Amino acid sequence: MSIRKYLLVAVAFALTSCEKKDNIVNSENLDHELNQDTVRFSDLRNLFRNQCYSCHSQANFSFTGLNLDSYENVMSGNMNGSVAIPFKPLESPLYTKCTPAFLENPSLYNGGSRMPEDNETFFDQYPEKLELIYDWIYFGCLE
Ligand code: HEC
Repeated sequence: MSIRKYLLVAVAFALTSCEKKDNIVNSENLDHELNQDTVRFSDLRNLFRNQCYSCHSQANFSFTGLNLDSYENVMSGNMNGSVAIPFKPLESPLYTKCTPAFLENPSLYNGGSRMPEDNETFFDQYPEKLELIYDWIYFGCLE
């Protein structure tokens, strides 16, 4: 087998095994190498500006002390702790508070409302935007 063919097979294998691992969302030892750099904080800015700043920004309100208006503010979380835990979307309120699952079991996520509080079904209408938050955290909360 030529070296080029060998490399192709190796890459294909790496891609398939990575895909399988993707299903185990809670595992800590995920191999993110192939997908790293895919989602950056700047990709979330418009979403946060349009849906969250009215209640979570320095210029307006900061409910629970949470500001989503800069990378530093998101990463520093609020009085309850971190809201975005790199690689762990299912443990990150920034994601879980926005999911439909939140409505079924709010006690899992410290209670309160589903976000955005003034339009709780927003992410049902735009699931790809919820996925963006998920992916951003899943790939390590890149700046
Ligand atoms: C209309 C006001 C409003 C909007 C808009 C809003 N929030 Fe909130 N948010 C709140 C309030 C009030 C709380 C505290 C009560 C609660 O947890 O439900 C809160 C709490 C939170 C928390 C929990 C913080 C903690 O201490 O656990 C997160 C995370 C959060 N919001 C994320 C978001 C995101 C992401 C958006 C935009 C997609 C958003 N919020 C939009 C009002 C809002």
